[in-house]
Amino acid sequence: MNAKEKILVFGGTKGVGRQYVDMAREKLYPASEVLVIARSENLLEDIQSQKESNSIEIKTKSLDISKEHEQEKALEIADEFDPTRVVYFIGGGPFGEFGQKKWSSHDWAYQVNFLFPAKLIHHHLKKNMTTVRQMIFLGSAIAESKADPKSASYSAAKHALLGLMKSVVEEGAFIDLRLFSPGYINTSLMPKADSLRSQGIKVFEPKEVAVELWKWQYEEDQNFHRIFR
Ligand SMILES: NC(=O)c1ccc[n+]([C@@H]2O[C@H](COP(=O)([O-])OP(=O)(O)OC[C@H]3O[C@@H](n4cnc5c(N)ncnc54)[C@H](OP(=O)(O)O)[C@@H]3O)[C@@H](O)[C@H]2O)c1
Repeated sequence: MNAKEKILVFGGTKGVGRQYVDMAREKLYPASEVLVIARSENLLEDIQSQKESNSIEIKTKSLDISKEHEQEKALEIADEFDPTRVVYFIGGGPFGEFGQKKWSSHDWAYQVNFLFPAKLIHHHLKKNMTTVRQMIFLGSAIAESKADPKSASYSAAKHALLGLMKSVVEEGAFIDLRLFSPGYINTSLMPKADSLRSQGIKVFEPKEVAVELWKWQYEEDQNFHRIFR
């Protein structure tokens, strides 16, 4: 069991993030707190309803991080909660040829995969005195360093996140910034798991990814970037 923690989880209601929140419930010292931000009120209530009498406190807040005014609200909530650790699972984007998709869909992908993560890092560094020891973001072993046809805006945003974090880490940021980049995962974000597996391509279950990420967050690591594929 780890020491008392206050973890702010962006996108902890589905996929890897949900597995991470379940692990926090299981593994953290009971006085710890987790605050989960996502959109669906039903999924947030579901997380609350699973609370056991002696488990950690889990708070929730429904916000749509693709919207700039809700991003500002999220920064206020982060300040009030004053976390020791921030873990950001929100991601996604339109699937199809770049020119055929609406600009609003590409804009959504830039907001959730890059612009808000960048704003969140900037906000905590600018504050200078912060209790946040570590901020972890999810990259993509598939999309962040090579072409990902039909996911151009997602790929561009993940490339941008990698570039930003690499540069800020080299500036000597006082927060432990980390990028965890998995391969394919069997979640609703990636509906082709069976077809990929039939081609012999490795597809992780969300729990396998959450277990690896959970371990890594407590390891001393000189490298800010972990590729898991
Ligand atoms: N799945 C893969 O194959 C794969 C591979 C490599 C990397 N990744 C990365 O790993 C991370 C997690 O992926 P996943 O597959 O676990 O995702 P997921 O199952 O789609 O879960 C995404 C989480 O983010 C929340 N969310 C989505 N849009 C939001 C918004 N606009 N505002 C607030 N919350 C929002 C979702 O809840 P609501 O819908 O209720 O808001 C959910 O809790 C992502 O960054 C993804 O890019 C995924």
